[in-house]
Amino acid sequence: MSASSAALSDAEVERRVSALLRQMTLEEKTGQLTQIFYKFIPDSATPEERIRKGEAGSYLFVTDPAEVNRLQRVAVEQSRLHIPLLMGFDVIHGFRTIFPVPLALAASWDPVLVEQVQTIAAREAHAAGIRWTFAPMVDIARDPRWGRMVEGAGEDPFLGAASARAQVRGFQGPYIGSPEHVLACVKHFAGYGAADGGRDYDSSYIPDVSLWNTYLPPFHAAVQAGVGSVMSAYMDLNDVPATGNRFLLQDVLRQSWGFRGFVVSDAFAIRDLTTHGFARDEQDAAYRALTAGIDMDMGAKSYLSNLALLVRQGRIPEAAIDNAVRPVLAAKIRLGLFEHPYVDVSRAQQILNAPEHREFARIAARRSAVLLRNQGALLPLSKNIASLAVIGPLADSQKDLQGSWSFAGDPSEVVTVLQGIRNKLPPGVSVAYAKGVEIRRRYPSMFDALQNVSPAPAPTAAEIEEQFDKAVSVARRSDLAVLVLGEHEDMSGEGASRTSLDLPGDQERLLKAVVATGKPVVLVLINGRPLDLSWAAEHVPAILEAWYPGTQGGNAIADLLFGDASPGGKLPVTWPRSAGQIPIYYAHNRTQQPETSPEFTSRYWDLPSTPLYPFGYGLSYTQFAFSNLQLRQNRVKAGERLEVSVNVENTGNRAGDEVAQLYIHQQSGSASRPVRQLKGFQRITLAPGEKKTLRFMLGQEELSYWSPQEKKWVEEPADFDLWIGPDSTATLHATFAIIP
Ligand code: GLC
Repeated sequence: MSASSAALSDAEVERRVSALLRQMTLEEKTGQLTQIFYKFIPDSATPEERIRKGEAGSYLFVTDPAEVNRLQRVAVEQSRLHIPLLMGFDVIHGFRTIFPVPLALAASWDPVLVEQVQTIAAREAHAAGIRWTFAPMVDIARDPRWGRMVEGAGEDPFLGAASARAQVRGFQGPYIGSPEHVLACVKHFAGYGAADGGRDYDSSYIPDVSLWNTYLPPFHAAVQAGVGSVMSAYMDLNDVPATGNRFLLQDVLRQSWGFRGFVVSDAFAIRDLTTHGFARDEQDAAYRALTAGIDMDMGAKSYLSNLALLVRQGRIPEAAIDNAVRPVLAAKIRLGLFEHPYVDVSRAQQILNAPEHREFARIAARRSAVLLRNQGALLPLSKNIASLAVIGPLADSQKDLQGSWSFAGDPSEVVTVLQGIRNKLPPGVSVAYAKGVEIRRRYPSMFDALQNVSPAPAPTAAEIEEQFDKAVSVARRSDLAVLVLGEHEDMSGEGASRTSLDLPGDQERLLKAVVATGKPVVLVLINGRPLDLSWAAEHVPAILEAWYPGTQGGNAIADLLFGDASPGGKLPVTWPRSAGQIPIYYAHNRTQQPETSPEFTSRYWDLPSTPLYPFGYGLSYTQFAFSNLQLRQNRVKAGERLEVSVNVENTGNRAGDEVAQLYIHQQSGSASRPVRQLKGFQRITLAPGEKKTLRFMLGQEELSYWSPQEKKWVEEPADFDLWIGPDSTATLHATFAIIP
């Protein structure tokens, strides 16, 4: 078992922190502000040496419970003050059980599910000795060229805030130190997703109006949910690196939001303040980061090497070091590390292999998938089919289904799409497999370099053609073909930006060749961002977006393909027709001539400026009707609440899920307001013919925005449009007004 069964009082924590601080030397304090990589990055001293000398307060990437105990024993028994280590790790979407990637979880539009997923992830990580996860990642992303879109909750601040709250609750439980829970760390503060060109780590230029209304709300939601730590971002924001940015770290995080946890830099981001050309040298970098509000140094040891000197030179008061150490020690005390520094290794194995965790991963993968097309109701398929071809470079790949940030997962446990289909169908059905094409990055992933993994040798031209022809002939000999296409797990995530959204490699040529056989084709996508489906959207009857679905992905996809579950997910991002449309997002301003005006069909002359699929879009195996939109009041004063209700009916012949989405538009104000903004959603399950009345409340939280004219949050007298429907193009409409 772990920490206390109730939250420690602030006074008790403060007393214990102060008592410790009084005993600590300046070097021991800077040691507590130092986090060191256990893997991937070589160190000049062994962990034992560092820990014994009090030079490390935290390690990251120690994932073996026995190793955690070994290093903790050095800290607790051999260091001078016996302060335990805080073990951190990227538990982003699972630990040993890998769940769908965060973008997929966002596509479930089910915060309860998201909280349950992160509760299980925390339980597994905690059992292994991890007490701190570097999640949730809440960066708003509106540029799918950016590889890290996969790690967040998409483009919308309302959906992103709901995801942030749910994840913090899931990881931390009701309080920091809750049994079998871990400290959460909301990241990357802030504006990382707006990188120029979608190029990872590149500069972000975000005006205040977008910072406050779009990029900051999910972070604020995490802080309001009690997140215990924050991670600063790599890039510079409006020319000031986030890791040395007083506006972010002091004005916003501590002054405006009252955050009282601690801030850790991203990996080497303190040292890299010199890379930015912001800090003169590493000592200056340490000075800038500490004085801006970074408490802990991840990976660089810049604090270890420079802070004591800066104090002795009189450039930094020791009280500033104490202020950084306090929240770190407070976290260790709240987590119960002093009372319970060790884990039970045998119990860890039981928890890491709990079958109920794998079963829940299957449920999560089912609820995260989005049905993009189902022409002629091709899906769900019959299990009485005589023969089936399963084709594609991702059809029988285990590692790819885990997605990025799955280092503690076991790829050998992953159920592939091919295996899931074979598990599903009776023995007499012929299920043939062909890989069809190879896909690979042009430049290797940085994680390969860090793990000394060299790419497999490229196939010869003859091998390429042979496997392509084999795939087409396998399709020709079958009654139906399931193509499993998309991106390798290293084609999304960190250091995985792209200039195009094309299906990598020869996948589209393979898709066209299989469609040309005349057999019915189902396309299953394994990917971490919208891809260019312009051709498939016209020629492939059924398209299921499965994202990176995790350990049980193959079984979940087979459940959906054969109707043992119905897809009910919705897109958390706008799906472009082409990379040329980027940035493209639904909550845009009208500015000039809307595309709806007759003489102005598009802002481009070569493509519509509308997306291929809108934000919030997703089909089902049944149909739903929205009706009877009612507002209890049509006129409210600022600060008053508005109650809205709507009926949703399942008009089809199968049970299914719908996500009712509520959007508003403020028609005038001290600033132009987006044509639509999500301000409410509810996912419901309805039996055939069943009708439900849903209720939504709108109040100051939903009706205010940060005004660039007023330079503050306002709720203004104005007329509003309101829509409720199945996606961001909802047509069921009403109006209301905020009156003076
Ligand atoms: C990485 C990522 C960050 C992660 C950290 C530790 O570079 O930017 O999201 O938590 O390093 O792995």
